[in-house]
This record gives sequence, structure tokens and C-alpha cells, in this order.
Amino acid sequence: TYVVTEACIRCKFMDCVEVCPVDCFYEGDNMLVINPSECIDCGVCEPECPAEAILPDTESGLEQWLELNAKYSAEWPNITTKKDAPADADDHKGEDGKFEKYFS
Ligand code: SF4
Ligand code: F3S
Repeated sequence: TYVVTEACIRCKFMDCVEVCPVDCFYEGDNMLVINPSECIDCGVCEPECPAEAILPDTESGLEQWLELNAKYSAEWPNITTKKDAPADADDHKGEDGKFEKYFS
């Protein structure tokens, strides 16, 4: 599966949503997540994200994010159409510590 990681928080560009063939993105206030049991591992979304927030879970150190994607994709609503990114999305691109500061 692919997972959405910290870089998405407060960036939420949503280009990923448009390209997913199985519509497996779910929307929280500050970020999106992927449902790991629906993702077919096509990889199409990874290069679409301007924040480089999407990674394959085969990369090391992503256990926390895989868990978070699984947990919240079961709680948050499905999103299948791109909306406008937050007005200050670019200001939060590449920022460190976004999970501690902003995740809710
Ligand atoms: Fe959707 Fe493919 Fe990305 Fe999985 S890897 S979330 S199926 S676009
Ligand atoms: Fe987030 Fe990137 Fe999608 S910032 S909403 S994972 S395009």
C-alpha cells in the first residue's frame, strides 16, 4: 500500500485524489489518508503530490503513518474530487514537526 505522511498536514493539495483509480482517499481537517485495504498499489498518486507526502509502505520508518492511515481512513469521509488547497498551503510545505503542531 501507499501511505500519506506528515508532509501532507496543512498542505492538503489534493492532486492525489484526482488520479486514484479506486478512490481510496479519506479526508480529515488537516490532511488526507489512504485506506490501506483499498489501495491497489498502483503508485500513480506518489508523483502527483506537490508536497511529496505519499510514499510506499515498503520504505522504512513508516509504521506510524501506516497505522494512522489505517485508523483514520475508517473514521473520515471518502473524498473523490479535488477541492481548493488551504490558502496557506505553500507556507507549510517542507515544514518540520507538523504532526505535533497541527494534527487533529
Ligand atoms: Fe490510489 Fe494508486 Fe495511490 Fe493507492 S497507489 S492510493 S490505488 S493512486
Ligand atoms: Fe496531501 Fe499531497 Fe494529496 S499534500 S492531499 S497527499 S496531493
